[in-house]
Amino acid sequence: MNALTTVALQGTTAGVTAAPFAKGFIRLTDDAFRKGWHERNGGNLSYRIKPEEIEPIRVCLREPAEWAAIGLSLPELAGEYFLVTGSGKYLRNVIECPEDNLAIVLIDDAGEKSSVVWGLEKGGRPTSEFPTHLMSHAVARKRTDGRHRVIYHAHPANLIALSFVLPLTDEAFTRELWGMATECPVVFPEGVGVTPWMVPGGSEIAEATGKLMEQYNVVVWAHHGVFCSGADFDETFGLMDTVEKSAEISVKVRAMGGARPRQGITTRQLQRLASDFNVTLPEKFIR
Ligand code: 13P
Ligand code: ZN
Repeated sequence: MNALTTVALQGTTAGVTAAPFAKGFIRLTDDAFRKGWHERNGGNLSYRIKPEEIEPIRVCLREPAEWAAIGLSLPELAGEYFLVTGSGKYLRNVIECPEDNLAIVLIDDAGEKSSVVWGLEKGGRPTSEFPTHLMSHAVARKRTDGRHRVIYHAHPANLIALSFVLPLTDEAFTRELWGMATECPVVFPEGVGVTPWMVPGGSEIAEATGKLMEQYNVVVWAHHGVFCSGADFDETFGLMDTVEKSAEISVKVRAMGGARPRQGITTRQLQRLASDFNVTLPEKFIR
């Protein structure tokens, strides 16, 4: 960036919202709202920004002023910058006015506090689910050697509906979702994790989600929604879309009276799929 551009960007938001990572973030919020997964302020999104993506927009960032406690100690995230949706902000409004609805947040040296350094221009704070986002980022980053950068929470109706009829176990949800669409065991071969109903927005649900994120890229919160982890926006949105599509088929099949006896993808067929597509399906899900 030359000196003239730097001066032109100072104190503006254009440098941030024009950055490719911000464009990808904003596109996801718009696509996801159109899917019907984000009533009112439901759902939230965060992205762990790469150092080389921060450099060109550094002139747009303010000095950290106030620091807010995260409620967790995550020293592995010290010094990281995140782009995140604001608490109480509507995902459908992000595309109209990113600087009012999003924030760039810096994590302090201890990994215990965060400070808004861009955005939320009409006030506010990062999503109330920020503890779960940060815990999931920490776990997924470690598990994928730094590949995963996106954590996404949505309220998709079919997955939520299934949490009223299926046993709230990883086995029951994984087998149901794998069995409803052939691509599922290939897209999420590790399965999905499930938490019982919990109070959202704090460190307890963050710890429970983080524990499951050690194994899974999808965590269902019973009677509430879903968290997905992925390397980029396409992968993470695509994962949510695949899981929810499978849940929709399950809901439709159940609404039509359920699958006919012995009709559906069998365990043997799952094993053949795994072998042809070179994925390993954990034993506990295909017994
Ligand atoms: P926020 O508006 O704080 O992001 O909360 C929305 C939500 O889905 C809580 O689980
Ligand atoms: Zn929610």
